[in-house]
Amino acid sequence: MTVISVDLSNCPYDIHVRAGLLADVGAILTPYARDRHLLVVTDENVTQAVLPQFESALRGAGLSCAHFTLPAGEAGKSWVQLEQLTDWLLEQHVERSDHIVALGGGVVGDITGFAAHIIKRGCAFVQIPTTLLAQVDSSVGGKTAINSAAGKNLVGAFHQPAMVLIDPELLLTLPPRQLAAGFAEVVKYGLIDDAAFFDFCEDNLDSFFAGDPDVRAQAIIRSVQSKARIVAADETERTGTRALLNLGHTFGHALEADTGFSDRLFHGEAVAAGMALAFRYSVRLGHCPAEDAERVTKLLKRAGLPTTLSDAGVTANGAALVDYMRHDKKMSGGTLPFLLARGIGQTFLSKDVALDDVAAFLDSEV
Ligand SMILES: NC(=O)c1ccc[n+]([C@@H]2O[C@H](COP(=O)([O-])OP(=O)(O)OC[C@H]3O[C@@H](n4cnc5c(N)ncnc54)[C@H](O)[C@@H]3O)[C@@H](O)[C@H]2O)c1
Repeated sequence: MTVISVDLSNCPYDIHVRAGLLADVGAILTPYARDRHLLVVTDENVTQAVLPQFESALRGAGLSCAHFTLPAGEAGKSWVQLEQLTDWLLEQHVERSDHIVALGGGVVGDITGFAAHIIKRGCAFVQIPTTLLAQVDSSVGGKTAINSAAGKNLVGAFHQPAMVLIDPELLLTLPPRQLAAGFAEVVKYGLIDDAAFFDFCEDNLDSFFAGDPDVRAQAIIRSVQSKARIVAADETERTGTRALLNLGHTFGHALEADTGFSDRLFHGEAVAAGMALAFRYSVRLGHCPAEDAERVTKLLKRAGLPTTLSDAGVTANGAALVDYMRHDKKMSGGTLPFLLARGIGQTFLSKDVALDDVAAFLDSEV
């Protein structure tokens, strides 16, 4: 078992990573199960792919659970689902001292964390991420949210989990396109924090996608170590350190908005295209060597990820895409802080960029 600590002064917690961990989840969760019973939130696909094993592991330790099933995909992160989930938790007599279990991808983790934050003015929750994206990114760091008409993740809260349990074997049932989407966030750590890890991704991409257990475990552990380090340095994104984790996300969110937050473009795919765009925009601004942007694009392409607007299925022009960006949480007036790449894995600088220049750049990409 590898244990990575998130060293937050007010709410430190551990991330446990081990292949086969799910089989032992009953023993691990026993101290968190009031009356030997747990409330679990999951989604339609995870109910099929993972819940039976999870329930069997609980039974083996003498625990039971009740579960709430969300629709799969972004539709699960809506006001309607939040209302139904919180009603269900109250029907189940959830108590403030309970630990609600989020068993699923980023959608399940994000809405469960937000529900836990608001229900009875704050319950604890445990993350058991079942997608690559959730294992390397969304389950760690305490950002919780739902989507609203104005955009993605605009209603939410910081609420750290009590514990994160990661079993890389859960990825065996994940559809290949979802695995690739999660790989975009893995690559991100090589770009913002750990240049040697970017080399690792280049060298081990084929083994990763072929299912090599050691390579997968290493990729997850190194990603989570980066995320834990960054979150501990800047829990609520005040000093700029945590903003590094948003690399490519402002472009990415605009691409997701244009494709209707739908299966046409998964979040990780949007991040991949967004990171490629961010590097190319940095080249245009004279802050990034063109070779770095090319290396990033090449690696993402090898993973089968989109790196251009047309790969992402986006047809909107620059002005329309920039309009989506106006809803970004980081917007201020007509400018957006933009992270300028200074080489793979090296420090990024933040600079305010004018949105009409971003629009002109996006038009030049078509
Ligand atoms: N909180 C954060 O810090 C943070 C960070 C990054 C992304 N996010 C959010 O995460 C969400 C995306 O997460 P995601 O990519 O995990 O998407 P997701 O939760 O929609 O899961 C992707 C798909 O895989 C299915 N699935 C999950 N686990 C499976 C398994 N083991 N086997 C088979 N199918 C499985 C799901 O049902 C779903 O259809 C977005 O809403 C994004 O905004 C949050």
